Amino acid sequence: MTISLWCNGRRKLTVVMLLTVCAYSTITSADSDTVSVEAPDIAEVKASAKHYVGSLKALLQKKMSADGPIGALDVCGVEGARIGGEITRNTGWSVRRITNRARNPLAMPDEYESKMLDQFNAKIAEQPDTTSLVKYEVVEENGATYARFMKGIRVEPVCLTCHGDKATMGEVGDKIDSLYPHDKARDYKIGDLRGALSIKIKLE
Ligand code: HEC
Repeated sequence: MTISLWCNGRRKLTVVMLLTVCAYSTITSADSDTVSVEAPDIAEVKASAKHYVGSLKALLQKKMSADGPIGALDVCGVEGARIGGEITRNTGWSVRRITNRARNPLAMPDEYESKMLDQFNAKIAEQPDTTSLVKYEVVEENGATYARFMKGIRVEPVCLTCHGDKATMGEVGDKIDSLYPHDKARDYKIGDLRGALSIKIKLE
């Protein structure tokens, strides 16, 4: 507003030049009034998800061969939180693993995540060898806008040591019982949906 007043009454050439500046100022100030951050490119989000899932699995396998399953019991939780925390520090995104059959109650899904887990399960039922359990979209939640990314996590043979049938888990099963009395993350079969990596990015 002050700028357009200041523009009045100048000589023609100056006015033309200043109008250009004024027009530019108007655009930039309008932009800064409605600060909006664009959703990051899906390739960037997918790369972080791949890093999380890939490095956690590698650490798990390494610790299991070095110290056995009991020695590796804290990898899923502690290292998962550490890798997620690292991504959050670098990007500001919220990163967590969620499931509808939780061992750690903090891994319970919110409404959106729960809906996506149902969709992923339906997709697996229809097409058991699907590899595309990924969703990325912009959603409105309680008046705010978020980009939400979900990548399904399926059960592989190595997971059954701690998420399989209790009868076959031996000592590890007893240890898990004592640490997680309300554990629901067992009796899985290879290929089941164990949960998902969930990334939530606030946009405005
Ligand atoms: C050595 C035992 C062990 C193995 C092997 C293991 N997990 Fe876990 N997992 C755990 C424990 C213990 C927790 C709970 C961690 C916590 O307290 O946050 C857990 C938690 C999780 C969670 C978070 C949700 C929840 O229920 O708390 C996911 C997802 C998960 N595991 C997936 C996997 C997958 C996929 C594999 C195979 C690639 C796997 N785990 C292998 C022990 C294991």
